[in-house]
Amino acid sequence: MPTSCNVVVLLSGTGSNLQALIDSLAAAETPARICAVISNRAEAYGLQRATAAGIATRTLDHRQFDGREAFDTALLETIDGFEPQLVVLAGFMRILSPGFVRHYSGRLLNIHPSLLPKYKGLHTHQRALDAGDSEHGCSVHFVTEELDGGPLVVQAVVPVQPHDTPDSLAKRVHQQEHLIYPLAVRWFAEGRLRLGEQGAMLDGQSLPSTGHTIRT
Ligand code: GRF
Repeated sequence: MPTSCNVVVLLSGTGSNLQALIDSLAAAETPARICAVISNRAEAYGLQRATAAGIATRTLDHRQFDGREAFDTALLETIDGFEPQLVVLAGFMRILSPGFVRHYSGRLLNIHPSLLPKYKGLHTHQRALDAGDSEHGCSVHFVTEELDGGPLVVQAVVPVQPHDTPDSLAKRVHQQEHLIYPLAVRWFAEGRLRLGEQGAMLDGQSLPSTGHTIRT
């Protein structure tokens, strides 16, 4: 097992997934260590969570930059200053440029609140309800140039209840996010999870195209 795996987390908002990572990594024996949290919004509550946990924070306000490329270049330099082995997107509400994504190929993870490839983009809970789906959930995937489209690592399936609203469904999906993201980060940090030529690999075996599935 690698002795250490520095992780940089990027976020724009509440940071409940960051909190789940902080709590889970503290409770487990793992090489993963969050060395910095970076936000494009100074008011993101996730920054306060990081500070409370003694983690370094940085804010890069995208509105202060002249376009996406300039912002992404500054972001990349800030991230690389922490020399991470893994970069984790945890509610980072920015589309990343292809050069940025390529730079972190195989070491950039995202979590998305749907059973990808269904419902890329926003309003996933409403869309699952509108479609009458009996199952919904969340996915962790490696990030590629295709938005919400990279190889899947793990999915948690959440049954839809008859009287679910977008909020009630989101709440149950969020609970599962807080389990599967730390799991994927630990796998990566332990050297068990890799991005191979054909997709995500766990313990040297190709994962199915839907990733590892957890049913609740
Ligand atoms: C989560 O729903 C995640 O799936 C999506 O952004 C949200 C972040 O929530 N990518 P939080 O800030 O971690 O609470």
